[in-house]
Amino acid sequence: MQMTAPNAIKQMKLYTQMERVQRALSARGMAKGALRPSDLHDLDQLHYGGIDAVEHAIDVLGLTGEDTVLDVGAGLGGPARYIAQRLGGQIEAIELQADLNALAQTLTARCGLDNHIRHTQGDVLAAPLPPNHFDAVVSWLTVLHIPNRAGLFECLKETLKPMGQMYLEDFYARQPLDEATQKTLTEEVFCAHLPHQAQYIQDLSHAGFTNIVFEDVSEAWTDFVSERLWTFQDQADAFIKVHDQATYDALAHFYSVMVTLFKGGQLGGVRIRAEAAR
Ligand SMILES: C[S@@+](CC[C@H](N)C(=O)[O-])C[C@H]1O[C@@H](n2cnc3c(N)ncnc32)[C@H](O)[C@@H]1O
Repeated sequence: MQMTAPNAIKQMKLYTQMERVQRALSARGMAKGALRPSDLHDLDQLHYGGIDAVEHAIDVLGLTGEDTVLDVGAGLGGPARYIAQRLGGQIEAIELQADLNALAQTLTARCGLDNHIRHTQGDVLAAPLPPNHFDAVVSWLTVLHIPNRAGLFECLKETLKPMGQMYLEDFYARQPLDEATQKTLTEEVFCAHLPHQAQYIQDLSHAGFTNIVFEDVSEAWTDFVSERLWTFQDQADAFIKVHDQATYDALAHFYSVMVTLFKGGQLGGVRIRAEAAR
């Protein structure tokens, strides 16, 4: 099965200089010791809309503390910690990048949530996921990094219980992608393959998902990324004081690429809900 080389993804500047998290915590006098998940919300939600987006997923899936949940592409573990703190339950958090996974594990332990979340480093396509096991799969801005949709959706369908629920936030091709946009997506966002809506839905149905709800959120995400860039630029001096110019430049570059992509109208954002067929 085609998998992702863990280092190749580091070409995306959101994933470099991860020391920024520890530096930001040190600047707040939180270098060590216990943390509340809310101390991290501005640092550990690597998607759009912060914890509101996670709350939305809890709501639409009707998640409870009885559910076993798989979080695919868990990043720094922000969404998993939010769910664990809100509901309890058991969450399996899989993350490709070793440094992000190690940091996620440390932060989860500092929040006292390690009895609810198990962090595993690896490619979801190679993970030994037990069949018929999870009540729900959740994933924020990860599927876009995985061109092998057939393999991915098949393994997620297999690990869900029959009628288990899946919630994804992801990118899709809202309009046909021109060469320049595809090049930017590949080089700056580590997104080599972006299907349009019909193809996306077809890939899910082929893997055995049904009751697929595809909700376009492109406009809200265009506003989000634009505001994220303005705020970041506005606070440049304070950020550089805590971090350094290189860290600022890397993030400012990435944030500005995302504004250009969303404003271009070809990149779209989507929330997807689907159910594993019996
Ligand atoms: C944009 S980040 C989002 C992180 C997290 N879901 C959040 O919202 O805070 C996407 C994450 O997916 C991870 N990822 C990409 N491909 C993956 C794969 N094949 N298996 C596991 N994780 C993957 C990346 O390393 C990255 O941390």
